[in-house]
Amino acid sequence: MHKILNNIGKLVFGRGSVHQLSSMIDPIREKNNGKFVFIVDHFFKSSSLVGDLKLKPEDVLYFEDCDVHEPTTEQIDRLRDDILLNHGLPSGVVGVGGGSIMDIAKALSLMLTTEGPSSDYQGLNLIKKPGVFHLGIPTISGTGAECSTTAVLTGPVKKLGLKCEWTVFDQIILDPSLTHSVPRNHWFYTGMDTYIHCIESETGIHNNAFSRAYGEESLKLCREVFIGPNSGQNEENDDKLMIASLFGGLSLTYSEVGVCHALSYGLSKILGYRHGYANCIAFNHLHDYYGDAVLEFKQMLAHHSIDLPQNLSSGWTDDQISAMAQVSWNLPHMWIHALGHDWESKISLKDMEGLFRRL
Ligand SMILES: [Fe+2]
Repeated sequence: MHKILNNIGKLVFGRGSVHQLSSMIDPIREKNNGKFVFIVDHFFKSSSLVGDLKLKPEDVLYFEDCDVHEPTTEQIDRLRDDILLNHGLPSGVVGVGGGSIMDIAKALSLMLTTEGPSSDYQGLNLIKKPGVFHLGIPTISGTGAECSTTAVLTGPVKKLGLKCEWTVFDQIILDPSLTHSVPRNHWFYTGMDTYIHCIESETGIHNNAFSRAYGEESLKLCREVFIGPNSGQNEENDDKLMIASLFGGLSLTYSEVGVCHALSYGLSKILGYRHGYANCIAFNHLHDYYGDAVLEFKQMLAHHSIDLPQNLSSGWTDDQISAMAQVSWNLPHMWIHALGHDWESKISLKDMEGLFRRL
């Protein structure tokens, strides 16, 4: 059985395209109560970007802080309950920020029409009805959350997405000018998320011509951005990285991620590491799985003088390491892709602990 891809309904790309937001959402205001809920990264609280969004007086604005932790099921439930109690069912949700904000907007859209705790819906096709209209405006490139068909949440038990046919954004605005102020380390770690998406997507049993085509083009762009003659943060590369992120996201969506993401989820769930950073910490030690790509990754680290911490595991307890291994073990779709359907005969829980002890 082949995967049916739910793709984004409408997309606009280009510098200044954020100014087209009103024309994209105003027709949607005829549905539900006419209000839009804006979820904006608190980083932009005093930025001119908020004015550019041109909220109407009836719209509702939340600044969410994603610095401390990645999106949680509790956070989504709190937002959903507050909106429904104080404002009613909105016409739609607009998310403006990084991957965490994209995931919040997608999850919130779904949970506004689904009752109960969102932790009950972490998994595949557990949500049974469409959410409200949702539009994403990424302000950092690399996560692929702008096009992915999952809304990753950390719950009381697991880090796992709400994944159903209505998760993907109805519309997205890709305006590279919004990414120019991203701090350098954050730019690098999040950009590497895309690089790793492509490598993992292509290295596993679900690889196919569709995911390879997007992955190869994305990798080409990543190389230009991170080790090419014109590498670094500049306008041309901001444009390229935004498209690399989109293509990398499409590549993994029609394939799967692998060992690095399985370990990264453990690091995020137990230690609270941010996704892009956690990926880099793990990928740096996965030469036996991803070969030359890890060497190329190290070149990129050196090229941008990124000082990735070493020997982190010496500060972790045995309990933390076994808890992280357990989180990874509970992501069989990633291990199946990376190692095959008989993955449990190729790696044990103890082996996974060993992978964490490398870091
Ligand atoms: Fe990722």
